[in-house]
Amino acid sequence: MHRAGPKRKFPATGNLRYNPEMASLSGLADPTPQGRSVYVETYGCQMNVADSELIQGVLAASGYTATDCAETADVILLNTCAIRERAEERVSQRVRHLIGARRSGRRVRIGLAGCMAQHHREKLLATIPGLDFIVGPDGYRQLPELLEADHPATEVRLDRRETYEDIAPVRGEGVRAWLTIMRGCNRFCTFCVVPYVRGRERSLPAAVLIEEIRHAASSGYKEVVLLGQTVNAYNDGTVDFGELLRRAAAVPGIERVRFTSPHPADMTDSTIAAMRDCAQIPPYVHLPVQSGSDRMLEAMDRGHTIAEYLDLVRSMRDAIANLAVSTDIIVGYPGETEQDFEATSQLMEQVGYDHAFMFKYSRREATRAWNVEETVSETEKGRRLTRLIDEQSARAMKINQKSIGHTTRVLVESPAKRQPNLFVGKNPQFKTVVFEPTVAKPGDIVKVAIEAAGPHNLRGRQI
Ligand code: SAH
Ligand code: SF4
Ligand code: F3S
Repeated sequence: MHRAGPKRKFPATGNLRYNPEMASLSGLADPTPQGRSVYVETYGCQMNVADSELIQGVLAASGYTATDCAETADVILLNTCAIRERAEERVSQRVRHLIGARRSGRRVRIGLAGCMAQHHREKLLATIPGLDFIVGPDGYRQLPELLEADHPATEVRLDRRETYEDIAPVRGEGVRAWLTIMRGCNRFCTFCVVPYVRGRERSLPAAVLIEEIRHAASSGYKEVVLLGQTVNAYNDGTVDFGELLRRAAAVPGIERVRFTSPHPADMTDSTIAAMRDCAQIPPYVHLPVQSGSDRMLEAMDRGHTIAEYLDLVRSMRDAIANLAVSTDIIVGYPGETEQDFEATSQLMEQVGYDHAFMFKYSRREATRAWNVEETVSETEKGRRLTRLIDEQSARAMKINQKSIGHTTRVLVESPAKRQPNLFVGKNPQFKTVVFEPTVAKPGDIVKVAIEAAGPHNLRGRQI
């Protein structure tokens, strides 16, 4: 459930809460932005989707309204990702295009927020002429001031205490609410830029989070997804992740509580027991492994071995019936031999993943692996990636076809895009189910008989 598409639309109004203490920081007292509109485009992971909702919350409190039209917006903000080079290239192209299309005579502020903004900081103002503002993941309170500046403005300081716990997000439409429960990461896996662009780990207070979940439930959301880069390392000093899951599951009106991404080395019995005991926590876990070779895991400093990982999967499957498991894989990390690669292919088969996100290694500036010489060519990375994708596709197809003839419970999301007479939603295992409805509307949980299956979805009929 990683990697949101490039765009997420926001409704023009939100569940705004006014916080007078914020006035001096966020420019609430300044009436001038009244009536100005802001267009936000989101790249990267779900945490960026949630951050865009916080950004909308900060700006709404200063009088900005959300728009889904870039052409007429007064502010254009791209919330960016730095995880791989390709992610940054896409944003560079897009923002250059938007700057080029800016009409003279109108004051339109165009800027970058998020991880890529943090990663390249001031350098971006020099390399992308016409940018008006740069704001990192811990600087969103300063946005109203940055937008008022009459010169290119930046806020890229990381703040170990910033959690935005007092900011009410303007959530997108749908049945699913995203909720960041912890920010940052302390793990420093050698390949990864996240600790550098998001700073140190910090958890929000459980009481604030439960209140936020209640609020989401009363606004009509049926599912909440708890977010963090090592989400299961959550601890606010008294409440650990397992306990938070139990409390979230007990909020009336919330039918499903999901979370992403847990780190294998942070998985505890407390979390597994909560998943086992709470009917509201569906049997699905995303457990990134990166490689099937101990040598590579060690080189990446992932903090566990393959044997430990397999033990974990086994104990989770023992505890939680019909558990679906997905993962993240990197191919072509420096030093990855043909043998290491084969080990990854074998591990994927052994675990029998329902789904996998697979990537070619991308060398990131500032990371611990930045100075490690690459040994796998782009062509070879491509070959390895294609093979894993083909294998995973066949595997998922086989797994999904076992559902044919069975029923599954689907949380209905919306009519299907290309066939509006059909509906789509997710089943407990987080599989997309496309089905012919009898009586169904978004937010309902309906029973669907599965009649067909592909590698990426299940198809059937409501019964
Ligand atoms: N915090 C999560 C991962 C977040 S990033 C975890 O540790 O499990 C999501 C995925 O992007 C990672 O799991 C990894 O597979 C991939 N990724 C991160 N950095 C990368 C890089 N430099 N090159 C290629 N893939 C990368
Ligand atoms: Fe990156 Fe590792 Fe942290 Fe995940 S745990 S965000 S891969 S440093
Ligand atoms: Fe997410 Fe990309 Fe940042 S994956 S945390 S948006 S670097």
